Amino acid sequence: MTNLLDREKAALFPTYDRLPIGAVTHAEGVHIHTDEGKTYLDAIAGLGVNALGHSHPAIVAAICEQAGKYMHLSNLYLQEPQVVLAEKLAKASSFERVFFTNSGTEAVEGAIKLARRYFSNGAKTEVIGVANGFHGRTYGPLSVMDKAKYRDTFGPFLGEASCIPYDVASLEKAVSAGTAAVIVEPIQGEGGIVEIEREFVEALMTLCAKHNFLIIADEIQSGIGRTGKFFGYEHFGLKPDIVVCAKAIGGGLPLGAILSRQEIADVMKAGVHGTTFGGNALACVAGAVMLDLVKKTYMENAAREGNYLKSRFESLKQKYPALIRDVRGRGLMLGIEFAANAKQVQQHLFGKQIITNVTAGEVLRMLPPLIFERKHSEELANAIESAVGLIGQA
Ligand SMILES: Cc1ncc(COP(=O)(O)O)c(C=O)c1O
Repeated sequence: MTNLLDREKAALFPTYDRLPIGAVTHAEGVHIHTDEGKTYLDAIAGLGVNALGHSHPAIVAAICEQAGKYMHLSNLYLQEPQVVLAEKLAKASSFERVFFTNSGTEAVEGAIKLARRYFSNGAKTEVIGVANGFHGRTYGPLSVMDKAKYRDTFGPFLGEASCIPYDVASLEKAVSAGTAAVIVEPIQGEGGIVEIEREFVEALMTLCAKHNFLIIADEIQSGIGRTGKFFGYEHFGLKPDIVVCAKAIGGGLPLGAILSRQEIADVMKAGVHGTTFGGNALACVAGAVMLDLVKKTYMENAAREGNYLKSRFESLKQKYPALIRDVRGRGLMLGIEFAANAKQVQQHLFGKQIITNVTAGEVLRMLPPLIFERKHSEELANAIESAVGLIGQA
């Protein structure tokens, strides 16, 4: 019998390069087990999805209980799990209304539609993103992104949508009375864990007051406690009008959300926007359990473990300034920018049975589950230290 990888190649689109660790047989907590009989420490948490690690018993129990009642009904029906999760999200933030989607890219699409519809009487249509951002792979998000890797060969893109250099002068030049929205990630994730600069935030809010556009914060990767605060924008004094979430929000199941004030949400009348699966009951009950536990315990843990890891990485940077260019991030959304060896460090970590990810060229990205304990942080930091030490000696 051919192996699973060959069968995959024969059966699936060739869109993904799989990690070289064999096939996953099961995963629990912070660990992933493979068919090669190995157990890996997961420091990427399903690309930021598994905030409570894999198959958290409280989430599994909530899903099983809900599955016994109903799984999918469609949005023809009133469903308590959606209402409960929306109420929890509103309580955890300053937003009054929630629209559920299935994914991050759909949340961004919906937010762009929402901004344009909100201003449809005033002919404000321009939507602007900033360089090095990532907002998803459908046409709305791609239209406000600049990376050739995601855009090449897929054009043309949305009209009256653009991506500007990520600096105050470019922002001042780009926004006008015709601007409907500016979208930013408080901390760029795919872009290599790049925090928004204070002066950019100040300029954005000043220009927003002058030109009356909406600020959309993309919290798909940075939201729901990962950075040690509920939303990443809270670190930087940003006051968005719309927030988009996904990844962790479904407790491991596919779910996204658009959050806004009531006055903005109210322009979406019945039937003008919608989704078949969005707000699926299983995802909503899983999300509600995750959100309670994150707020109660794990957001604080993310801040604590994040501080520990960051200080370890900063010491390493001091010791090896030629190898490490920068250490960035908040809470458990961290990146180490290497001069040249990020992939080599990642390979070394595979050897030590630890999973991380390399993004934006030379950035080793870490998005561990928020349940990471000190022993896991130590294991990760020690392994990175030994990898950098070996490269340093060579
Ligand atoms: C900041 C950000 N926005 C949007 C997306 C797109 O989300 P999805 O892959 O669920 O469509 C991602 C995914 O990585 C993301 O990190």
